[in-house]
This record gives sequence, C-alpha cells and structure tokens, in this order.
Amino acid sequence: MVSAPLLELRDLRRSVHLPSREELHILRGIDLTVHGGDHVAVVGRSGSGKTTLLNLLGLIDHQSGGELLFDGVDVSRLGERRRARLRGASIGFVFQQFNLLDGRTALENVMMPLMYGSAGQFWRREKLAREMLDRVGLADRAQQLSARLSGGEQQRVAVARALVRRPRLILADEPTGALDVSTGEAVMALLDEIARDSDAALVTITHDLQVAALSRRAFLLDEGTLHDIDTDGARDALTATAGLRSGREAVS
Ligand SMILES: Nc1ncnc2c1ncn2[C@@H]1O[C@H](COP(=O)(O)OP(=O)(O)OP(=O)(O)O)[C@@H](O)[C@H]1O
Ligand SMILES: [Mg+2]
Repeated sequence: MVSAPLLELRDLRRSVHLPSREELHILRGIDLTVHGGDHVAVVGRSGSGKTTLLNLLGLIDHQSGGELLFDGVDVSRLGERRRARLRGASIGFVFQQFNLLDGRTALENVMMPLMYGSAGQFWRREKLAREMLDRVGLADRAQQLSARLSGGEQQRVAVARALVRRPRLILADEPTGALDVSTGEAVMALLDEIARDSDAALVTITHDLQVAALSRRAFLLDEGTLHDIDTDGARDALTATAGLRSGREAVS
C-alpha cells in the first residue's frame, strides 16, 4: 500500500518586500512530494533560498502563494496556534550552530521539547530523554553542561533533542556545516538511521555534496525552483551554478 504523502508542495512561492519596495521572488514555484521514511537533500548556492524553503516546511514562515500540505492539511488555513502545535508535535529541527542552551546539561537540553508536550511526569520525560541520548551514543555525558561538549557531541545532543518527540518530519539546515568531515558523516549517518527507524521524513539542506549523496533523492535549488539531480552527478550540477563549492573543496 502506498501511504499518503507527508508533505506536498504545489507551486509553492515565497517573496519578500525589500526596503527599496521592490519585491524579491525567492521561491518561484516549488513542487515536491515527500513520504515518511524518505530522505531528501536540497543543495544550492548561498542565497538560493534553501533556508527560506526550510522555514516554510517548518511552518515558521508563511508562503506567498501555492500550496503546502502537511499530512493532507493545507497549512495556510491553520491559525498560529494550530501551526505551533503541529510544529511542536510533528517537526524536529537540527541547525548548523546546534542552538543548545549552554547553561544546561545534555539531558536538560534533550528534555526541553518534552516540556511542552503531554509526555507526562518528570521521570517519564527524563527516561525518554535518556533513551535518546543513549541512541546517539552519549548516555555517559547526560549530566555534562552542553557548552563543555565537543562540536560533534553537541550536534548529537541536538539530534537527540530534535528526535525525542518522535517527529514525523525532521528538517536539518546545514547540520554538518560546523563539523569536521568525519564527525559530520557520523552525525548524518545517525540522523538518517534514526529517521528511517521511526519512518520519519528527513529533509537535509547542505552545501556538501558528500552529505547530499547520503540522501535518497537530491535536488538543486536554483533560480527559485527545484531541479532533480542524481547524487552521483550532483557535483557536475553544482559546479555548473556559479560560486558553489562542496564543503570539502572549499577547505582544501
Ligand atoms: N525576510 C527577508 N527579507 C529580505 N530578504 C530576504 C528575507 N529572507 C531571505 N531573504 C533573501 O533571500 C535570499 C535567500 O535567502 P536564504 O537564507 O533562503 O538563502 P540560503 O540558500 O539559505 O543561503 P545560505 O546558503 O547562505 O544559508 C537571500 O538573498 C536573502 O538575503
Ligand atoms: Mg541558509
């Protein structure tokens, strides 16, 4: 049986008004269907609109036109409160800069999203958070202040935090951007594995072609629209758009 798509984007558009009163058309008609268990990568040069797209998928920003269906629901029809509830319950975010609370322990950071849910009593939330920390290989660092952890460990805590509520959609914006190559690969492999285990959809935004190659489907965002790319051929597609380098090429 083919399940209904988790995300359906039809001619999705986003434009903003510049101070000059001109309109900047960032996304000019995005069509994309994503099912649970899928892993989609979006690559594109800086300024191509990747974060703008992710903010629409994450129900953070509003589209200017077109349709965005989340589990069959047209999100433009939802009020702010319902959008926030859907976001909290169903979407997990992983950012380039981890965005952990420095003064809190790894465990407290992972427990944070559970505060707003109905996960029940403290001990239950703590148990769920400890299980997730264990899953990312950090069971023994639970009580460590997050600021004292290495970058790779912090990103694993951030992955645990993003996944602790078992979101159906995981959005990762340059999740390996602040990590060295092998740590980044380990974090991506972990994200991919946990997403797959829980049948969540993973959308990864990256500059790095090696990271994109870990996805099942990859797209190039260029001139406001998505273009199918085969991840093996991704390098050619990317180098054809001006100014874009893979993370690895950029440092070497
Ligand atoms: N609210 C806004 N107001 C004005 N311009 C905006 C706004 N949001 C995004 N932009 C512009 O739209 C373009 C796309 O921005 P976006 O952050 O989506 O790019 P990106 O692909 O994520 O780039 P990077 O790889 O550098 O993170 C940029 O030129 C940016 O300056
Ligand atoms: Mg960005």
